Amino acid sequence: MLRHGDEKDLEQVKKLSDHLFGDPYISTEEYLELLKIGYLFVAEEDGEIQAASLHHLITPKELSDEMAVTPEMQKDLCKERPSLHFRYHAVYEEHTRKGIGSSLLAYALQEMKEDNKYGSVFTQLWVPLNRNMKEKQPMEFLAEKLGFSKLHEQFQPWQIEKYKHSYCPVCGGWCRCNARVYYREL
Ligand SMILES: CC(C)(COP(=O)(O)OP(=O)(O)OC[C@H]1O[C@@H](n2cnc3c(N)ncnc32)[C@H](O)[C@@H]1OP(=O)(O)O)[C@@H](O)C(=O)NCCC(=O)NCCS
Repeated sequence: MLRHGDEKDLEQVKKLSDHLFGDPYISTEEYLELLKIGYLFVAEEDGEIQAASLHHLITPKELSDEMAVTPEMQKDLCKERPSLHFRYHAVYEEHTRKGIGSSLLAYALQEMKEDNKYGSVFTQLWVPLNRNMKEKQPMEFLAEKLGFSKLHEQFQPWQIEKYKHSYCPVCGGWCRCNARVYYREL
């Protein structure tokens, strides 16, 4: 079953995001704040959350500072409406390659479009430092299938003071991954 997630789901959802993206990835307090300015979607079966997708408001300044989407680009891409940060998409390993990730993202995009509040969704898809930048990550195939387009690449965008104490499970500490920025109009 695909549905909107809420506070009651946070224990399971946090477990999933910590498992895939590093412990702790998003604290419970931060999740509670993000739920006020965004959307959580989950795929659930028999009470077990198998997948989750988090999207929340991003300000024009954050979009520019974090993802290098300049004010000029925002004019073109955001339809003069607020934008969403597609923060993550996560499916437990044992449930991947069964279409859950794509069904959940299609559902999320449809629900957010129907809400009629936001212009576009932006996301950073991470490429570990030792990977060939030409090689696409699984999520890029999925995102492109659902209408996302690549905007540009960022070289180690988290190598800034603000993220010095972040934990990246791939880098084993301060994140040195590169990123590709994708967007999709709603
Ligand atoms: C990426 C992820 C969300 C895919 O979820 P999923 O449920 O397996 O996706 P689906 O089964 O719906 O697959 C959709 C498409 O994605 C692509 N894809 C998914 N896994 C892939 C893989 N391991 N290698 C290459 N392409 C892949 C394929 O194009 C696939 O279509 P196909 O099965 O017709 O070939 C999941 O593997 C995951 O959670 N990974 C870890 C976390 C992560 O990297 N999240 C994304 C960034 S936040």
